[in-house]
Amino acid sequence: MQDDNNKINNSSFLILNSTLPKHVGIIMDGNGRWAKGLGLLRSAGHAAGVKTLKKIITTAVNIELEALTVYAFSTENWNRPHTEVDFLMHLFSEYLEKEKRELNEKNVRIKFLGRINELSESLIKQIDDAEEMMRNNTGLRFNVATNYGGQDEIVRATQKIAKKVLDGEIKIDQIDSKLFESQLDTGNEVPIDLLIRTGGDLRVSNFMLWQSAYAEFWFTNTTFPEFTPEEFLEALKDFGKRDRRFGSIK
Ligand code: IPE
Ligand code: IPE
Ligand code: MG
Repeated sequence: MQDDNNKINNSSFLILNSTLPKHVGIIMDGNGRWAKGLGLLRSAGHAAGVKTLKKIITTAVNIELEALTVYAFSTENWNRPHTEVDFLMHLFSEYLEKEKRELNEKNVRIKFLGRINELSESLIKQIDDAEEMMRNNTGLRFNVATNYGGQDEIVRATQKIAKKVLDGEIKIDQIDSKLFESQLDTGNEVPIDLLIRTGGDLRVSNFMLWQSAYAEFWFTNTTFPEFTPEEFLEALKDFGKRDRRFGSIK
């Protein structure tokens, strides 16, 4: 463990000398395939994914990353077998129970994104409690996209804005991208600079569609259970080498 920490600290030192992204998104994919490859149930893959997530958060805190948003459950994931969905919901609940104290001690502020109101009553309560507990923390802003879909988030933001217009709170011509953004689940969070997807697929699967408009992408074949802090730092280092033009020219 000491060795691991040293390795991470050395790599952290290297990347601190280059440009760090402010906000990293991770599509934590490949849990099921990792498990299948070992002859295990898909659920074992999800449980292993939670262990990886814990290490990634520790690294993110150590390098003082501003924000980390992870994709935990998509609006499309309800199409999976009942048993898998139930297992995942149980895992989220167990995760909060086990980790919230430590996250709080790390000064992490947790926030859940997505249609949270459609989750079970007990999970909603745990989410509310965890968010409340960490509300005033000033360290890593850790967002967990759960029952989240980028298109759904945009539709819900549109509904909120339409209501404001109907209520006479704002006029149609006051709707601009800044106002629109403020109504997304991420609120006034900074945009995603770096989007990582593990598991080998080259797609965004409805994740952070608005927020990653100018994100740099980093895809790896490594499945999420096998993803390490070292590879995470490698992605961050690679980000430091990217030439971000935002439509402009040099
Ligand atoms: C990602 O891993 C976790 C969730 C979608 C909840 P998968 O479960 O999609 O794993 P693969 O892609 O089938 O290997
Ligand atoms: C995206 O992975 C959702 C999460 C990681 C939570 P999926 O495994 O659901 O994506 P697809 O189905 O391969 O596009
Ligand atoms: Mg998948």
